[in-house]
Amino acid sequence: MREILIRTTREVEVPAEALHALRKSSFEQWKEAGLTTSVTNCPVQTLARYLVGKAVFVAHDAKTGELLAMHTFRLNKKKHRASGANLAVSPAAKHEGIGTRMLEAEVERFRKAGYRFLAEATGIPAVWSVRWHLKNGYYITGYKRSEGNNYASYTFLKPIALDVLHHPTDIFWTRPLAPITAKLHYFVSFIITSLVKDRQGRLTWLGRRIKKG
Ligand SMILES: CC(C)(COP(=O)(O)OP(=O)(O)OC[C@H]1O[C@@H](n2cnc3c(N)ncnc32)[C@H](O)[C@@H]1OP(=O)(O)O)[C@@H](O)C(=O)NCCC(=O)NCCS
Repeated sequence: MREILIRTTREVEVPAEALHALRKSSFEQWKEAGLTTSVTNCPVQTLARYLVGKAVFVAHDAKTGELLAMHTFRLNKKKHRASGANLAVSPAAKHEGIGTRMLEAEVERFRKAGYRFLAEATGIPAVWSVRWHLKNGYYITGYKRSEGNNYASYTFLKPIALDVLHHPTDIFWTRPLAPITAKLHYFVSFIITSLVKDRQGRLTWLGRRIKKG
Protein backbone atom coordinates (compact mmCIF):
# COMPACT_ATOMS: atom_id res chain seq x y z
CA MET A 1 0.00 0.00 0.00
CA ARG A 2 1.26 3.46 -0.91
CA GLU A 3 2.47 5.44 2.11
CA ILE A 4 0.71 8.80 2.31
CA LEU A 5 0.81 11.91 4.48
CA ILE A 6 -2.56 13.50 5.27
CA ARG A 7 -2.41 17.08 6.49
CA THR A 8 -4.29 20.35 6.21
CA THR A 9 -3.04 23.38 4.30
CA ARG A 10 -2.44 25.02 7.68
CA GLU A 11 0.25 22.41 8.30
CA VAL A 12 1.72 22.18 4.83
CA GLU A 13 1.77 24.92 2.25
CA VAL A 14 0.22 23.90 -1.06
CA PRO A 15 0.00 26.49 -3.85
CA ALA A 16 -3.49 27.15 -5.20
CA GLU A 17 -2.10 26.27 -8.67
CA ALA A 18 -1.28 22.72 -7.49
CA LEU A 19 -4.75 22.23 -5.97
CA HIS A 20 -6.31 23.66 -9.12
CA ALA A 21 -4.38 21.26 -11.38
CA LEU A 22 -5.21 18.25 -9.20
CA ARG A 23 -8.92 19.06 -9.03
CA LYS A 24 -9.13 19.75 -12.77
CA SER A 25 -7.49 16.46 -13.76
CA SER A 26 -9.50 14.47 -11.22
CA PHE A 27 -12.84 15.91 -12.38
CA GLU A 28 -12.13 15.12 -16.05
CA GLN A 29 -14.00 11.94 -15.06
CA TRP A 30 -17.17 14.07 -14.80
CA LYS A 31 -16.66 15.61 -18.24
CA GLU A 32 -16.02 12.19 -19.76
CA ALA A 33 -19.34 11.00 -18.28
CA GLY A 34 -21.11 13.97 -19.93
CA LEU A 35 -21.76 15.85 -16.66
CA THR A 36 -21.54 19.65 -16.64
CA THR A 37 -19.06 20.86 -14.06
CA SER A 38 -17.55 24.30 -13.62
CA VAL A 39 -14.56 22.62 -11.95
CA THR A 40 -12.76 21.78 -15.20
CA ASN A 41 -12.85 25.35 -16.54
CA CYS A 42 -12.77 27.40 -13.32
CA PRO A 43 -9.81 29.85 -13.18
CA VAL A 44 -7.22 29.33 -10.45
CA GLN A 45 -8.04 32.74 -8.91
CA THR A 46 -11.67 31.66 -8.35
CA LEU A 47 -10.52 28.53 -6.53
CA ALA A 48 -8.00 30.55 -4.46
CA ARG A 49 -10.80 32.92 -3.36
CA TYR A 50 -13.11 29.96 -2.56
CA LEU A 51 -10.47 28.34 -0.36
CA VAL A 52 -10.24 31.32 2.00
CA GLY A 53 -11.66 30.33 5.41
CA LYS A 54 -12.13 26.66 4.43
CA ALA A 55 -10.47 23.64 6.03
CA VAL A 56 -8.48 21.99 3.24
CA PHE A 57 -7.13 18.45 3.64
CA VAL A 58 -4.44 17.20 1.29
CA ALA A 59 -2.72 13.84 0.82
CA HIS A 60 0.86 13.58 -0.43
CA ASP A 61 2.87 10.54 -1.42
CA ALA A 62 5.26 10.11 1.54
CA LYS A 63 8.15 9.06 -0.75
CA THR A 64 7.83 11.30 -3.79
CA GLY A 65 5.99 14.26 -2.25
CA GLU A 66 3.45 14.15 -5.10
CA LEU A 67 0.09 15.74 -4.30
CA LEU A 68 -2.44 12.89 -4.53
CA ALA A 69 -5.74 14.16 -3.13
CA MET A 70 -7.65 17.12 -1.70
CA HIS A 71 -10.94 17.69 0.14
CA THR A 72 -12.31 21.05 1.32
CA PHE A 73 -14.73 21.78 4.19
CA ARG A 74 -16.94 24.72 5.09
CA LEU A 75 -17.26 24.72 8.87
CA ASN A 76 -20.42 25.44 10.84
CA LYS A 77 -19.37 25.19 14.46
CA LYS A 78 -22.82 26.20 15.75
CA LYS A 79 -24.49 23.27 13.93
CA HIS A 80 -21.47 21.01 14.64
CA ARG A 81 -21.32 20.36 10.89
CA ALA A 82 -18.44 20.30 8.38
CA SER A 83 -19.65 20.43 4.78
CA GLY A 84 -17.29 18.77 2.34
CA ALA A 85 -16.67 19.59 -1.33
CA ASN A 86 -13.96 19.25 -3.96
CA LEU A 87 -13.08 15.70 -3.00
CA ALA A 88 -10.54 14.88 -5.70
CA VAL A 89 -8.04 12.06 -6.03
CA SER A 90 -5.33 12.23 -8.69
CA PRO A 91 -6.31 10.07 -11.73
CA ALA A 92 -3.20 7.89 -11.32
CA ALA A 93 -4.04 7.18 -7.66
CA LYS A 94 -7.78 6.48 -7.82
CA HIS A 95 -9.21 3.27 -6.36
CA GLU A 96 -6.21 2.74 -4.04
CA GLY A 97 -8.14 3.61 -0.89
CA ILE A 98 -6.68 7.13 -0.68
CA GLY A 99 -10.08 8.88 -0.57
CA THR A 100 -11.16 6.53 2.21
CA ARG A 101 -7.98 6.97 4.24
CA MET A 102 -8.25 10.72 3.92
CA LEU A 103 -11.85 10.60 5.17
CA GLU A 104 -10.79 8.53 8.21
CA ALA A 105 -8.20 11.17 9.10
CA GLU A 106 -10.76 13.95 8.62
CA VAL A 107 -13.32 12.21 10.84
CA GLU A 108 -10.74 11.84 13.59
CA ARG A 109 -9.82 15.54 13.44
CA PHE A 110 -13.40 16.77 13.27
CA ARG A 111 -14.51 14.53 16.16
CA LYS A 112 -11.73 15.92 18.33
CA ALA A 113 -12.80 19.45 17.41
CA GLY A 114 -16.41 18.72 18.51
CA TYR A 115 -18.07 18.31 15.10
CA ARG A 116 -20.94 15.82 14.94
CA PHE A 117 -21.78 15.57 11.21
CA LEU A 118 -20.08 15.63 7.83
CA ALA A 119 -22.24 16.79 4.93
CA GLU A 120 -21.58 16.46 1.20
CA ALA A 121 -23.39 16.54 -2.15
CA THR A 122 -22.68 14.80 -5.42
CA GLY A 123 -24.26 14.33 -8.84
CA ILE A 124 -26.50 11.26 -9.02
CA PRO A 125 -25.00 10.08 -12.36
CA ALA A 126 -21.50 10.26 -10.80
CA VAL A 127 -22.02 6.65 -9.70
CA TRP A 128 -18.40 6.22 -8.57
CA SER A 129 -18.87 9.11 -6.12
CA VAL A 130 -22.33 7.99 -4.91
CA ARG A 131 -20.92 4.51 -4.30
CA TRP A 132 -17.90 5.93 -2.48
CA HIS A 133 -20.12 7.95 -0.12
CA LEU A 134 -22.45 5.03 0.64
CA LYS A 135 -19.51 2.70 1.23
CA ASN A 136 -18.04 5.24 3.64
CA GLY A 137 -21.06 5.56 5.95
CA TYR A 138 -22.87 8.55 4.48
CA TYR A 139 -26.69 8.50 4.31
CA ILE A 140 -28.54 9.99 1.35
CA THR A 141 -30.61 12.73 2.98
CA GLY A 142 -31.73 14.97 0.14
CA TYR A 143 -32.29 15.62 -3.56
CA LYS A 144 -31.49 18.87 -5.31
CA ARG A 145 -31.21 20.48 -8.73
CA SER A 146 -29.03 23.50 -9.48
CA GLU A 147 -29.33 25.78 -12.49
CA GLY A 148 -26.52 25.11 -14.97
CA ASN A 149 -26.12 21.45 -13.98
CA ASN A 150 -27.40 18.77 -16.38
CA TYR A 151 -27.98 16.39 -13.47
CA ALA A 152 -29.70 16.20 -10.10
CA SER A 153 -27.67 15.68 -6.92
CA TYR A 154 -27.94 13.73 -3.73
CA THR A 155 -27.05 15.38 -0.46
CA PHE A 156 -25.42 13.18 2.16
CA LEU A 157 -24.91 13.25 5.90
CA LYS A 158 -22.50 11.19 7.95
CA PRO A 159 -22.88 11.24 11.75
CA ILE A 160 -19.42 11.13 13.32
CA ALA A 161 -19.93 11.86 17.03
CA LEU A 162 -19.07 9.04 19.43
CA ASP A 163 -21.10 10.36 22.37
CA VAL A 164 -24.25 10.04 20.29
CA LEU A 165 -26.71 11.05 22.98
CA HIS A 166 -24.99 14.33 23.78
CA HIS A 167 -27.70 16.28 21.95
CA PRO A 168 -31.40 15.17 22.13
CA THR A 169 -32.01 15.31 18.34
CA ASP A 170 -28.93 13.16 17.68
CA ILE A 171 -30.99 10.08 18.59
CA PHE A 172 -32.60 10.39 15.14
CA TRP A 173 -29.17 10.13 13.54
CA THR A 174 -28.15 7.04 15.48
CA ARG A 175 -28.86 3.46 14.43
CA PRO A 176 -31.47 2.01 14.19
CA LEU A 177 -33.30 5.31 13.55
CA ALA A 178 -30.75 6.99 11.25
CA PRO A 179 -31.69 5.15 8.00
CA ILE A 180 -35.37 5.98 8.58
CA THR A 181 -34.61 9.65 9.35
CA ALA A 182 -32.46 9.84 6.22
CA LYS A 183 -35.20 8.34 4.01
CA LEU A 184 -37.83 10.75 5.39
CA HIS A 185 -35.48 13.69 4.78
CA TYR A 186 -34.85 12.49 1.24
CA PHE A 187 -38.55 12.00 0.49
CA VAL A 188 -39.49 15.50 1.70
CA SER A 189 -36.67 17.19 -0.22
CA PHE A 190 -37.50 15.20 -3.39
CA ILE A 191 -41.14 16.37 -3.26
CA ILE A 192 -40.17 20.00 -2.58
CA THR A 193 -37.52 20.05 -5.32
CA SER A 194 -39.92 18.45 -7.83
CA LEU A 195 -42.51 21.15 -7.04
CA VAL A 196 -40.21 24.15 -7.31
CA LYS A 197 -37.50 23.20 -9.85
CA ASP A 198 -37.63 21.98 -13.45
CA ARG A 199 -35.14 19.53 -14.97
CA GLN A 200 -32.74 22.39 -15.75
CA GLY A 201 -32.81 23.45 -12.09
CA ARG A 202 -34.81 26.64 -12.86
CA LEU A 203 -37.42 27.86 -10.37
CA THR A 204 -40.97 26.73 -11.16
CA TRP A 205 -44.22 26.28 -9.34
CA LEU A 206 -45.99 23.02 -10.26
CA GLY A 207 -44.20 22.98 -13.60
CA ARG A 208 -44.69 26.71 -14.44
CA ARG A 209 -41.58 28.85 -14.81
CA ILE A 210 -41.46 31.65 -12.22
CA LYS A 211 -38.54 33.67 -13.61
CA LYS A 212 -38.20 33.95 -17.39
CA GLY A 213 -34.84 34.42 -19.06
C1 LIG B 1 -14.70 9.61 -5.83
C2 LIG B 1 -13.22 9.50 -5.50
C3 LIG B 1 -12.82 10.65 -4.59
C4 LIG B 1 -12.97 8.16 -4.76
O1 LIG B 1 -11.66 8.14 -4.25
P1 LIG B 1 -10.75 6.84 -4.34
O2 LIG B 1 -9.55 7.06 -3.52
O3 LIG B 1 -10.55 6.51 -5.79
O4 LIG B 1 -11.73 5.72 -3.73
P2 LIG B 1 -11.35 4.60 -2.63
O5 LIG B 1 -10.26 3.75 -3.20
O6 LIG B 1 -11.16 5.23 -1.30
O7 LIG B 1 -12.73 3.78 -2.55
C5 LIG B 1 -13.10 2.87 -3.54
C6 LIG B 1 -14.61 2.80 -3.54
O8 LIG B 1 -15.12 4.02 -4.14
C7 LIG B 1 -16.12 3.69 -5.12
N1 LIG B 1 -15.52 3.88 -6.45
C8 LIG B 1 -14.35 4.51 -6.71
N2 LIG B 1 -14.14 4.56 -8.05
C9 LIG B 1 -15.18 3.92 -8.63
C10 LIG B 1 -15.55 3.66 -9.98
N3 LIG B 1 -14.80 4.05 -11.02
N4 LIG B 1 -16.73 3.02 -10.22
C11 LIG B 1 -17.52 2.63 -9.20
N5 LIG B 1 -17.22 2.85 -7.90
C12 LIG B 1 -16.07 3.49 -7.61
C13 LIG B 1 -16.47 2.22 -4.86
O9 LIG B 1 -17.41 2.18 -3.80
C14 LIG B 1 -15.14 1.67 -4.38
O10 LIG B 1 -15.27 0.52 -3.59
P3 LIG B 1 -15.24 -0.94 -4.29
O11 LIG B 1 -13.90 -1.07 -4.91
O12 LIG B 1 -15.47 -1.89 -3.15
O13 LIG B 1 -16.33 -0.94 -5.33
C15 LIG B 1 -12.35 9.51 -6.81
O14 LIG B 1 -12.86 8.54 -7.70
C16 LIG B 1 -12.32 10.87 -7.51
O15 LIG B 1 -11.51 11.73 -7.17
N6 LIG B 1 -13.19 11.06 -8.53
C17 LIG B 1 -13.27 12.31 -9.32
C18 LIG B 1 -13.80 13.46 -8.53
C19 LIG B 1 -15.11 13.11 -7.83
O16 LIG B 1 -16.01 12.51 -8.40
N7 LIG B 1 -15.20 13.54 -6.56
C20 LIG B 1 -16.37 13.36 -5.74
C21 LIG B 1 -17.21 14.57 -5.89
S1 LIG B 1 -18.15 14.89 -4.47
